[in-house]
Amino acid sequence: MSIDADALKTELLSQIEAAPDLAALDGVRVSALGKKGRITAAMKGLGGLDPEARKATGQALNAVKDALAAAIDARKDVLETAEMNTKLEAERIDVTLPVRPEQRGKLHPISQTIDEVVAIFGAMGLSVREGPNIEDGFHNFTALNMPPEHPARQMMDTFYLKGEDGEADMDRVLRTHTSPVQIRTMQSEKPPIRIIAPGRTYRSDYDATHTPMFHQVEGLVIDKDINFGHLKGCLQEFCDAYFEVDHVPLRFRPSYFPFTEPSAEVDIGCSRKGGELKIGAGDDWLEILGSGMVHPRVLDYCGIDPEEYQGFAFGMGIERIAMLKYGIPDLRTFYEADVRWLKHYGFAPIEVASLERGLTP
Ligand code: PHE
Repeated sequence: MSIDADALKTELLSQIEAAPDLAALDGVRVSALGKKGRITAAMKGLGGLDPEARKATGQALNAVKDALAAAIDARKDVLETAEMNTKLEAERIDVTLPVRPEQRGKLHPISQTIDEVVAIFGAMGLSVREGPNIEDGFHNFTALNMPPEHPARQMMDTFYLKGEDGEADMDRVLRTHTSPVQIRTMQSEKPPIRIIAPGRTYRSDYDATHTPMFHQVEGLVIDKDINFGHLKGCLQEFCDAYFEVDHVPLRFRPSYFPFTEPSAEVDIGCSRKGGELKIGAGDDWLEILGSGMVHPRVLDYCGIDPEEYQGFAFGMGIERIAMLKYGIPDLRTFYEADVRWLKHYGFAPIEVASLERGLTP
């Protein structure tokens, strides 16, 4: 029996070259070099040769083995690269494609309105402060000139959290207004103070114009010679910018708040002809906020000398001004989390409200 190493080499090399993919190549490798492969079988056959031929053929077979292993490695490289390229081609993504329009979220009118309010007062030099939603009695009431027996405490239908004894804890109240942020700011900062404080507020009410959770924005300006004229000018400028009307008629109606003196509720002029609400003209009035000159006792509570400093404050309902500007008829719909409602009344994200580029995107 003779073994033709050259013929084996030519045949197996051409099989390696012809292997179309990695799986086929591995099949060729097993059939050539595997335990039951052609080369292995030929090696086993060496025993039947005479010693001289055994040596020469053995060497030749070893050389063929090395050549095949090298050829398999080379072919493997080629096939791997090809496979990778096909895969990359198939999984190619165009990163410049725009997002699908239906996946775009909308900004809730409350967020949009707060952004607008912050932009307008920000341009006047007022900066934003925040306070906790769970307040203590001192900040929500006492320091605002509402001592424990004060009837105004009962006027605000308030949520108290339970204390350890299971009874309402008078020192854990869901804040009934953003006014406690006035107190916190005056306690921690020195005048001059020029701030607004937008945020959530809570009262136990529920009907078409009241929800248990709603939003306010507080304003507070304290300096040495602040007077009521500054309050009027500030609110006039705000209303003109916010409602995007040249000169919104404002009416300051004498009112009472324990923490301001004098106090005024502010109405804006509007018309409701034919059921259509128009802001800035007509002979109807709509209340949008409470305001006044900070009560000297409040300044005292905060360690600010009322002989040296005075200021004004206001508190405005965010939902109220959002409903007026954007024609949203029912307050309760703000919190029903209905995506169709949000699609209709919501705002494009990203384009943040600014006075320079227009408040509403
Ligand atoms: N905190 C008052 C309210 O919620 C509004 C207000 C704020 C009035 C600041 C005067 C000054 O009704």
